[in-house]
Amino acid sequence: MMGDVDGRLRVALVGAGAMGGEWLRMLAASSVAIPVAVVDLDIELARRTCASTGLDITTGTSLAEVEGAGIEAVINVTVPQAHRVVNEQAMRAGLPVLCEKPLAPTVSEALRQVALANVTGQLLMVSQSRRYFGPLATFAEVARKVGPLSTVLADFFHEDHEPGFREQMEHPLLVDMSVHHFDMLRFITDDVPISVRCDAWNPPWSWFAGKASAVATFELASGARFVYSGSRAAPGAETSWNAEWRMYGLEGVATWDGESAVSLRSERVVPQPPAAGESIEGSLAEFVSCVRDGRTPQNEVRDNVLTLAMIEGATESSSRQGERVVIRELLDEALARARHDETREDVAAELYSWPDAVHGLSTTPWGSAPAIASGGAL
Ligand SMILES: NC(=O)c1ccc[n+]([C@@H]2O[C@H](COP(=O)([O-])OP(=O)(O)OC[C@H]3O[C@@H](n4cnc5c(N)ncnc54)[C@H](O)[C@@H]3O)[C@@H](O)[C@H]2O)c1
Repeated sequence: MMGDVDGRLRVALVGAGAMGGEWLRMLAASSVAIPVAVVDLDIELARRTCASTGLDITTGTSLAEVEGAGIEAVINVTVPQAHRVVNEQAMRAGLPVLCEKPLAPTVSEALRQVALANVTGQLLMVSQSRRYFGPLATFAEVARKVGPLSTVLADFFHEDHEPGFREQMEHPLLVDMSVHHFDMLRFITDDVPISVRCDAWNPPWSWFAGKASAVATFELASGARFVYSGSRAAPGAETSWNAEWRMYGLEGVATWDGESAVSLRSERVVPQPPAAGESIEGSLAEFVSCVRDGRTPQNEVRDNVLTLAMIEGATESSSRQGERVVIRELLDEALARARHDETREDVAAELYSWPDAVHGLSTTPWGSAPAIASGGAL
């Protein structure tokens, strides 16, 4: 990798909407990456977003249009429906990708991207920015001190007014918000989801078109249960965006208010700040260092598929009146759909080479570290 004169990674930002603007402002001040191009289907928006950040860089409506900018990596901040297509364009052009969550609208599209990463040999990392937060890391450390787990509880209650695609989604809570909390559960416990039962509904006063409230219970490989309840149409005492957590084990209880208050057996624990920045800055730092030294990041594509499977399992269960959905079966059904839908011969051949979905997720990832360490429990 050549890097800029000062060693920063030269990145193209694809998707210049609300979150793309956040990314560009962060990138403009980054010491590890430099934005060299901005792409959006809406070229005027791409230009406006650059101008509002004070950047005078190449803009275009596709990666192909900006290929002369000396791009070394792509940051994909488009809408979820466009993630796979943009990731494919980038990886086929030999570029590693950091893609906003959720990786794809369905697990089957996510599996096609695992196969694509194998075919192109490129790094595809998902930005789960809420993992990069000092108190979360502290809570994960504390969680190991409560011994074998019995029950993990997370509550998320908010009054969110976000006109636009979120208020029209079928599952604005589970798909758009709980993706963070389910991913945090995996980060905190390093446990593997086995099955889920979920009830999702819309309160009569809700301003969301879809189901803004849900209760889900996951069985984890350790035998513990993760009990999640939440709503985005809950006027009143709001929880943190990170949810409020309690974790009960053999050696007592750990709690986290989702902000700075962490406790172990009722004793306050002082949270540590992470070494490499928080939120999207932390995610970028991990991506750049893995591009540089060939390590596998914690959110490499195949690991992230399990977070998506938790969401899809929950929405599937809710559409079947709370029936138990087994994650391994869901993954295999998704693989069958992925094989059916895939149009590229090389990607389809890769999908057909896997005996089943869990084997696909255990294929060697970009970098040298093992894939999902505890995936064998599925
Ligand atoms: N990590 C977080 O906390 C967080 C917060 C907000 C949004 N997000 C994620 O960021 C992503 C973008 O969300 P947003 O709120 O910015 O959406 P948005 O609708 O404001 O912006 C998306 C942009 O992508 C562009 N786009 C769509 N398809 C494209 C394509 N094929 N090529 C180029 N551009 C294309 C659209 O024109 C639009 O400008 C989503 O995946 C969302 O879930 C993450």
